[in-house]
Amino acid sequence: MNQETNKILIAPSLLAANFAKLGEEFATVEAAGADWLHLDVMDGHFVPNITFGPLIVKALRPLSKMPLDVHLMIAPADPYITAFAEAGADHISVHPESGPHLHRTLQAIRALGKKAGVVLNPATPVEAIAHVLDLTDLIMVMTVNPGFGGQAFISSQLAKIATLRRMIDASGRDIILQVDGGITEKTAGPVLAAGATCLIAGTAIFGAESYAQAIAKIRAATPAKRPSLTETVG
Ligand code: DX5
Ligand code: ZN
Repeated sequence: MNQETNKILIAPSLLAANFAKLGEEFATVEAAGADWLHLDVMDGHFVPNITFGPLIVKALRPLSKMPLDVHLMIAPADPYITAFAEAGADHISVHPESGPHLHRTLQAIRALGKKAGVVLNPATPVEAIAHVLDLTDLIMVMTVNPGFGGQAFISSQLAKIATLRRMIDASGRDIILQVDGGITEKTAGPVLAAGATCLIAGTAIFGAESYAQAIAKIRAATPAKRPSLTETVG
């Protein structure tokens, strides 16, 4: 959650957009009320799909001031971090499995003045981030296996989201807890109740007739009362 506005952040994933009209799609989803644009970078090696690299980030950057949330599904990631930073990424998130030195990778992202994120695959334990919280601005829980949009939400990850909520609150750090994969107006409720503060959605937004309505429906899934910071600790 954005601590200043107490607002749940919605980050549409461009993966589900019309790739022949990326600029227009970006403008439309911004006008529809999106907070960030989520960009899925895939290499056909770390995940079984290929998307795009820094050139697309660079092309989209001048079109808006909206934060660009770059999700790297590439291995190794380290050699490309500078290129994504220079292309205009605001957030750069990596999977711990993409390289042997997560601590160094996060240091490198921060040294470039960008927010650093760690992404946990469904089978990756929360312990993967326990000792790098001081270098982490964003934690992203995958609720599908990375590589494709339009997959079914993996509900076993709700317990992980709740555990991470407690870890973040106990740390006292201003870390944004994102959830990526299978987010719809139905799954958004339980995810927000578990403590997520940023929802990433591809198909549910770009597959909808009205992006604004789709974003509004996901936002409306916000539970009436989220547990407060103190209530969730311990
Ligand atoms: C999957 C990507 C997701 C994907 C989500 O590897 O990280 O961001 O676009 O798509 P939906 O919302 O369709 O599950
Ligand atoms: Zn993603």
